[in-house]
Amino acid sequence: MARGILGPLKPLDTHSAHEPDRALRKTLSWPHLIALGIGAIVGTGIYTLTGVGADRAGPAVVLSFAIAGAVCAFAALAYAEMATLIPTAGSAYTYTYSVIGESIAWIVGWSLILEYSLACSTVAVGWSAYLVGWIEAAGIHLPPLLLSGPHAGGIINLPAVLVALAIAGMLIAGTRESATFNIILVAIKLMALALFVALALPAFTGGNFEPFMPYGFGSTVSPDGVKRGVMAAAAIVFFAFYGFDAVATSAEEAKNPGRDLTIGIIGSMAACTFIYMLVAVSAIGAAGYIDLGKSAEPLAYVLRTLEHPAAAWAIGLAALIALPSVILVMMYGQSRIFFVMARDGLLPRGLSKVSERTGSPVVITAVTGVFVAVVAGFFRLDEIAELANAGTLLAFIAVAACMMILRKRAPELKRVFRCPQPYIVGTLAILGCLYLMSSLPLHTLTRFVGWNVVGIILYLLYGRTRSLASKGKAVTGI
Ligand code: ALA
Repeated sequence: MARGILGPLKPLDTHSAHEPDRALRKTLSWPHLIALGIGAIVGTGIYTLTGVGADRAGPAVVLSFAIAGAVCAFAALAYAEMATLIPTAGSAYTYTYSVIGESIAWIVGWSLILEYSLACSTVAVGWSAYLVGWIEAAGIHLPPLLLSGPHAGGIINLPAVLVALAIAGMLIAGTRESATFNIILVAIKLMALALFVALALPAFTGGNFEPFMPYGFGSTVSPDGVKRGVMAAAAIVFFAFYGFDAVATSAEEAKNPGRDLTIGIIGSMAACTFIYMLVAVSAIGAAGYIDLGKSAEPLAYVLRTLEHPAAAWAIGLAALIALPSVILVMMYGQSRIFFVMARDGLLPRGLSKVSERTGSPVVITAVTGVFVAVVAGFFRLDEIAELANAGTLLAFIAVAACMMILRKRAPELKRVFRCPQPYIVGTLAILGCLYLMSSLPLHTLTRFVGWNVVGIILYLLYGRTRSLASKGKAVTGI
């Protein structure tokens, strides 16, 4: 068994040779993957966090989108190389296990739980706000105690809980059906954004972009205790960009991973960056950043102020129908990460059983669904998003590091996709992620460290001695 100084290494050449009842079926081709990518990427980030970003950076939130997009583009290139080199479920966790070692892989996997699960919870909360706005616009009032968590004076955000549980149920019903359904949702979501731009852009007022950077560039604490500035906003709207890595987590189920994953990851990333810039410019140009920053459903708000109530209603409806596609993809990614960690023995092995009928890991999907629902029911949207971002940034750093280490250690490996200028791109991805991470609020960073301390304790008590690799069942690493 190969060992690095950071624990056992997972063998590269056994990724496709799993026991029959613990292998996922190959059912996805590139249209599914690009839809999975856009399905995961376009969501609460643009539909809701545009407002939070405007509050943190002013009109320069457009710049924040560009910065976060650039960092994600570097990370996406590293992802594409690693995803095609190691086409198996587990994404950053699996790459780290193969290249760096088990203990760091555990930390990355544990951080990915924050990325995927908390992203699902964030989107569920954003969805709930659109639901409430939409229903209330029709003059119907729902009991407020059931519409938000204790932080906002309520008891529980019931719509957010229900949508999370419903999506978990869909995933349990089978991957293929869910991915196909997802394509329809993606189309709705994109059409709604196109409608938004078509109506908001003609109302563009240049004066709304002055002053462009009211809070400066770097992330600094404002008198009200909130970190503001272009980088503070970039650290939160970064949420809007990730999801392409969910495509990588589905590698084991891709029919032709080499070609399809490359198209899936790079294609969905590039398309989304363009769309966001356009939506942000339209929203700020039409409504100004101050009001935008106050709304929980900013895009519908802009259209209402422009006196397009029918279009606002339609955007709300599109968000309601389509945002669950983000939850679908992220929850799918999460259940696959849990699945691989359990299959590797770092979590209880029983969790990695795949249903004979649908080919999906049922127990683990149900556990994921409940976890997501609980967080969505009781916590604040921006705080959940920021913590999800911290976990994602760590995963991106790990992937970029793995790509560079492997280029040095095993240059001879056949790479279906080769990241251009790997050391420059990898270094820029790592530095960009570190800068974004340092721009997050202090309480987010403290919680992130706390989460990982708990994770490390669990690893020392359970995974370190129970993993297949620690029992000598892995024979070679890279
Ligand atoms: N990028 C996804 C969203 O914005 C997570 O909802």
